[in-house]
Amino acid sequence: MPRGIVYEEIDTYIDGLANRGDAALRAVEKQGMDEGWPIVAAAEGSFLHILARSIRAERILELGTAIGYSGTWLARALPNGGQLVTVEHNPETATIARKNLEKTGVGSKVKILVGNAGEILKDVKGPFDFIFNDIDKAGYPAVLDPCIERVRVGGLLVTDNVLWKGKVAQKDRSKETQAIRTYNERLAKDPRMIASIVPLRDGVSVALKVRA
Ligand SMILES: C[S@@+](CC[C@H](N)C(=O)[O-])C[C@H]1O[C@@H](n2cnc3c(N)ncnc32)[C@H](O)[C@@H]1O
Repeated sequence: MPRGIVYEEIDTYIDGLANRGDAALRAVEKQGMDEGWPIVAAAEGSFLHILARSIRAERILELGTAIGYSGTWLARALPNGGQLVTVEHNPETATIARKNLEKTGVGSKVKILVGNAGEILKDVKGPFDFIFNDIDKAGYPAVLDPCIERVRVGGLLVTDNVLWKGKVAQKDRSKETQAIRTYNERLAKDPRMIASIVPLRDGVSVALKVRA
């Protein structure tokens, strides 16, 4: 039986082939692993980059900055003049992220907003070409509608951990699992969106906004 979403050797195989970027980005990945930060893996960071760059995103919103790892992948997908707005509720974490984003060379493209995503979103106006949601899982349902409203038609809402180690498909009744289930179901039924789940790492939902 697989231990995660896919067989462990498949996960390891994908990870072995993942693009890890330059030394500066690899240093942030290493910091994440050494210090136990819950950052996306390289295969997912590069996936986010590919998606954002493919749609020529110029304005990206990220919910859940941590140490700026996925933020660097996203900011590096932006053209000159593009902007990543990223939200982090822990001010100390935001300070670490700011330093890392400078080190990876994307500091001038990134604005970090410190506060709770649900609250901050009230003051953040769309449209965004691309939104990446990676906050606390119990908080997912509350940000779904604000995210959909702020992504442009033709833009993408991408969400991490939507399979939650497979628990969404099992009998688990934890607060996080139930919140992710609610989020996935609402997104699947929303007439404005076409959503699909990619079983990469902990499950990545990719949703295209098709109508306002
Ligand atoms: C899973 S980590 C983000 C990892 C990051 N996206 C990456 O892969 O490099 C989640 C981060 O979001 C922050 N966070 C969690 N819930 C939040 C919320 N409701 N509003 C703002 N930030 C939140 C946490 O402090 C943490 O740093």
